Amino acid sequence: MPGDIDRLQSIAVAIVDALQEVVDKHEITQDELHATGDFLDRIGQARMGKSLLDIFFAMTVVDREQQGRPGTRPNLAGPYYRGGAPERRDGSLLERPLSPDASLLTLAGVVTNARTGAPISGAELDFWHADELGGYDHEGFHLRGLVRTDDRGRYVVHTVLPTDYAEHKNDPIGELLVMIGRHTYRAAHIHLKVRVDGEEWLMTQLFRSDSPYLDSDYVRGAVAGDLVVDLKEVEPVDGHAAYESVFDLAIAPPEERAS
Ligand SMILES: [Fe+2]
Repeated sequence: MPGDIDRLQSIAVAIVDALQEVVDKHEITQDELHATGDFLDRIGQARMGKSLLDIFFAMTVVDREQQGRPGTRPNLAGPYYRGGAPERRDGSLLERPLSPDASLLTLAGVVTNARTGAPISGAELDFWHADELGGYDHEGFHLRGLVRTDDRGRYVVHTVLPTDYAEHKNDPIGELLVMIGRHTYRAAHIHLKVRVDGEEWLMTQLFRSDSPYLDSDYVRGAVAGDLVVDLKEVEPVDGHAAYESVFDLAIAPPEERAS
């Protein structure tokens, strides 16, 4: 479409102009230009172009699209979502025995309509998160699964506490993060999507309030105070530390995004 071509052209011109300014201001040499090109080649060979842009810019887009829209703040999917997770009728996401270091978490809350405040029954919450060592299950569905709200909009999920993880320690994105004085850790989080009648109304991430990386998560803008979940320690279960958290979700249909 002509409009798309015009838009692409104006964005491309703006990017080239912005980079031209950097080249001029910092008196960048030809060797430095070529080293940058080699670096971008490595990002491409590692298929990390999208991740690179997401880390620095995607939350700016998410926040802009959310402006004026009521409800829980959305967040990025990240690279580890897998569709087809099983329904967890008992609320438990565990498919493996607990390791000795694992702590248990029960997360509960109410899902409401962000416009009316009415509870939404039958909403489908699709969870996925890292384990106590910071790893995702890429083969099965351990710490992944679907939970539905009851007739009063309530949900409960039983899982383990995820931990902070360093994702880009040995790749070009990690090199760049270190180069600009950042670390490669994500603050411990739980991903979820919420669907109503099969339609996605929200995708977000909930963060552990005790993570030391809340203020420095390498995904720029990902952590916000209203997505941080407090942990209340309760009686241990079979020798495992146990915690309870409450997080209510207010969601609106996607078509209200522009309102
Ligand atoms: Fe993640």
